[in-house]
Amino acid sequence: MHEPFASAPFVVGRSSAAAAQPHMPAEESLAPIVAHDWVNSEYKHMIVDASPKALAVKPGQFFNLLCPSPDMGELWLRRPQSVYRIDRANARIEFLYKCVGRGTRGLATLKVGDELNMVGPLGVGFTLEPAWKHIVVLGRGVGIATLGPVSQLAGEHDVGVTAILSAREPEFVMADDLFGEVGDVIPVLDSDGTSAVENVERILQKLIVERRADAFYTCGSNRLMQLMKRLGKAHGIPGQIAMEQIMACGLGPCYVCVKTFEVDGEKVLRRVCIDGPVFDLQEAIGW
Ligand SMILES: Cc1cc2nc3c(=O)[nH]c(=O)nc-3n(C[C@H](O)[C@H](O)[C@H](O)COP(=O)(O)OP(=O)(O)OC[C@H]3O[C@@H](n4cnc5c(N)ncnc54)[C@H](O)[C@@H]3O)c2cc1C
Ligand code: FES
Repeated sequence: MHEPFASAPFVVGRSSAAAAQPHMPAEESLAPIVAHDWVNSEYKHMIVDASPKALAVKPGQFFNLLCPSPDMGELWLRRPQSVYRIDRANARIEFLYKCVGRGTRGLATLKVGDELNMVGPLGVGFTLEPAWKHIVVLGRGVGIATLGPVSQLAGEHDVGVTAILSAREPEFVMADDLFGEVGDVIPVLDSDGTSAVENVERILQKLIVERRADAFYTCGSNRLMQLMKRLGKAHGIPGQIAMEQIMACGLGPCYVCVKTFEVDGEKVLRRVCIDGPVFDLQEAIGW
C-alpha cells in the first residue's frame, strides 16, 4: 500500500481520511464546485464540497485559491479569499468574491463540477468573548464577504448583532440575508448619502447609548475603520479588523504581505497572512 505523497492534494470525495496529514491544520485540497452564480454585476458566489480540514475553517480565516488563467497568459500566484459561509451540516464552504482582475476573472470561469484547488484554512480568524451580548459589524465592499461568517459566530453563541452594511447602491448590499437571520441589518448607501461617515457615526453612537455595542468588527473601508477605532477608544469597546493585503505565499515565509501596526506607541511590522488577517482594531493604523 502506498503512503500519499506529502504534498498530494486531498481530493474531496475521493481521498480517504488517512490521506490527511493530521499534524497540519491546513492542506491543499481539490474541492468540487456545487454552485457558482453571479449575485450582482460584480460579485460571484461559489459553493464547494469541503474536506474535513477545510470545513474546520473559522470565520475570518481564508483560503489561497489557484485561479485558472482567463486568457493565453500565465497566472502566477494564488489569490486569497475569505470564507463567506461555513455549512457544516452539508460539509460545504462558500466564497463571495468580486471580479477585479485576472485572478478573479479566471476564477469566475470555473463551472459546477470543476474542482477548485485551495490551500487552507489559513490565518487567524475572529473571536467572540463569552461576556459579549451584542456586537456591531461594519463592512463595505469585499469586506462584507469577509464579515459574513461573523453572523454564524454570533448565531452559534446566541449573541445579538447589528450589521451596518455600506455599499454604493442597493445591488451591492450583500450578506444581509445572513445577518438578517440572527440580528438587525442597517444598509447605508452612497446613492442616498446614508453611507456618509457622519451618519454611520450617528448609528454607532446610538448603539453605544443603547448598550448594544460590546464589541466592534470591521473590514473593507479605511474611513469606517478609523471611525470605529476612534469610537472604540473613546468608549472602551474592543474591536477586531480583518485587513486585506496583496499576498504571495499566504503561509508566512515570503513577507510580501507585511503591514505596519502600532502597539503601545511602537511601530510593529506584521504579516497579514499569518499574524492576521484579523487584528486588534486599536493596533491597526489603516491604509
Ligand atoms: C485575507 C484576504 C481575504 C480576502 N477575501 C476576499 C473575499 O472574501 N472576497 C473578495 O472579493 N476579495 C477578497 N480579498 C481580495 C482578493 O484577494 C483580491 O481581490 C484578489 O486577490 C484580486 O486578484 P485578481 O487577480 O483578480 O486581481 P489583480 O489583477 O491582482 O488586482 C486587481 C485589483 O485588485 C487589487 N488587489 C489585488 N490583490 C488584492 C488583495 N489581496 N487585497 C486587496 N486588493 C487586492 C489590486 O491592487 C488591483 O487594484 C481578500 C484578500 C485577502 C488578503
Ligand atoms: S504572503 Fe507570504 S508571508 Fe504573507
